Amino acid sequence: LATASADVARLIRWADDFPEPGVRFADLTPVFADADAFRDVIDALVSVGAGADLIAGIDARGFLLGAGVARSLGAGVLAVRKAGKLPPPVLGRSYDLEYGTATLEIPADGIDLHGRRVLVIDDVLATGGTLGAATELLEAAGATVVGVAVVLEITALGGRARVAGHPVTSLLTI
Ligand code: PRP
Repeated sequence: LATASADVARLIRWADDFPEPGVRFADLTPVFADADAFRDVIDALVSVGAGADLIAGIDARGFLLGAGVARSLGAGVLAVRKAGKLPPPVLGRSYDLEYGTATLEIPADGIDLHGRRVLVIDDVLATGGTLGAATELLEAAGATVVGVAVVLEITALGGRARVAGHPVTSLLTI
């Protein structure tokens, strides 16, 4: 991200005690709304996506990034949804968040992930529960996860360990 990183970092909106007391939430909404910052972030993520033929974007901000990266890279895009959004049949994987638990789902039919080379994208890597579950879910469905990429990694939470075995790229760290 080099010269643009300071601008992107400055646009992040930090919220204390959201969505639970004690959690500091990084909201990248203003990054996506800024044309230069959004382009720089997408371009940087594209540069780590070489070799992927499918971009998996995680609900919800990962959808925005994933679609932009997929279009630039010439790959397909797969929305990895939170529970209850997709019609059955689905494949799911539950995980612990910094706050509570959640489940991610993908369609169990209509897409054959065997042989697909998937780059998994989200806005933030915090505890790693979300990306750990997403990579496990995609691999259980037959995909090869070629990497994980995020805009912001909160290193103190150690989330990288939960996506062990895959190259993890973060454009910014705090
Ligand atoms: C946030 C963020 C990541 C996840 C990271 O999503 O967008 O997906 O938390 O946290 P983790 O590494 O501790 O799992 P959130 O669940 O708040 O959903 P949202 O994107 O729909 O706001």
